[in-house]
Amino acid sequence: MSSAVGKVFGFLLLLLATFLWIGQAVTALTGGEKAAASAVEISPEGGESIFWGKGRCFTCHSMGDRGSAVRGPNQGVFGENFPLPIGARAAERAKERSQKTGQTYTATDYLVESLAEPGAYVVEGYKNEMAIVYAPPIALNLKEVKAVIAYLQSQGGELDLESLEKPNEVSKKFFAKMAAAQAAGGGDPSAGEQVYASNCASCHVIKGKGGKIGPELSSVAGKGAKYIEDSILRPAKSITPGFETWTLTDKAGRKTIGLKTADTASEVEITKANGEKVRVAKADIKELDQDKDASVMPDNLNEAMTVKDLQDVLAYMMLQKSE
Ligand code: HEC
Ligand code: HEC
Repeated sequence: MSSAVGKVFGFLLLLLATFLWIGQAVTALTGGEKAAASAVEISPEGGESIFWGKGRCFTCHSMGDRGSAVRGPNQGVFGENFPLPIGARAAERAKERSQKTGQTYTATDYLVESLAEPGAYVVEGYKNEMAIVYAPPIALNLKEVKAVIAYLQSQGGELDLESLEKPNEVSKKFFAKMAAAQAAGGGDPSAGEQVYASNCASCHVIKGKGGKIGPELSSVAGKGAKYIEDSILRPAKSITPGFETWTLTDKAGRKTIGLKTADTASEVEITKANGEKVRVAKADIKELDQDKDASVMPDNLNEAMTVKDLQDVLAYMMLQKSE
């Protein structure tokens, strides 16, 4: 009897051990796979796996006979429209870009630009429909972008990993743009510029253009993505010094709320959120109080923006660096 119990017990122990072992093996396997996916190498092979995988390039581009997508130009040699593979084609396009922009483009610069700013050069016969591959949903990181460029270089062009590790001035600018977008959680800075133009430019100056109600934002990136996001969602949380909100009540009981933009011996000027300036003689002021819990910047801007708009405008903000 007791030996029978022992046998059953022993069997159960064995079963349990087996389950534990399988569980661990599965975890190791999936964990291992994740590690492999996040550590892509900057090489043609690494880039090939991105092109046909996470980068989703294959959903719009074929490579010679491989794939069937036609929304974007074939990246290999195909029919009479594509006599040159992308690596060689990039060298041709680089000449066109150099002429057009007055900057010297290498083949790599053209490829980097194609990913960073697809709208800058739209291949004839195609629409400006190339994905922003460093923004969601694709959201390639910088290493993955470089890997995929190495793959494109290797298609009939010169494989030049050095140009990706130590980019020249032209490419550097494009990589900085992609890095800024990622620092902001992966937005599209070009789309963000549009969001900015319709929601923010009336109050802020960037590179000499815009309204002068709020602080200039030409080098705001230095304050960091978190601070900027807070500034948009909860403007009153940290008011930029010099842009405090004041409430002026005159002796007739009229209230004016805004920034104190002048304060002389004889009068005070308040600039309202809509830009209107109200001057009141000191003799007519009943009260002048600073309101620490309110900002002249509206706190409901996000209501007119989608989550994507917010991410995009943040990406655009992260590009605003003083040179
Ligand atoms: C949603 C469809 C789409 C996706 C996804 C896409 N592309 Fe494109 N791509 C296009 C279109 C359309 C064009 C042509 C218009 C243009 O030049 O912007 C293009 C142009 C290009 C060019 C310039 C080609 C030339 O002949 O000069 C390159 C390089 C490129 N894509 C690479 C990529 C890579 C690499 C990926 C993946 C990381 C990718 N694309 C993902 C649609 C797409
Ligand atoms: C009605 C005018 C107005 C509009 C519209 C407006 N802002 Fe502001 N913004 C201000 C004012 C005033 C301040 C300074 C007070 C404060 O810090 O809240 C400010 C502060 C900021 C700051 C902090 C700057 C710093 O150097 O500390 C950022 C960043 C900012 N705004 C971004 C934006 C963005 C992005 C938008 C559009 C989505 C926008 N603002 C729309 C008026 C405005």
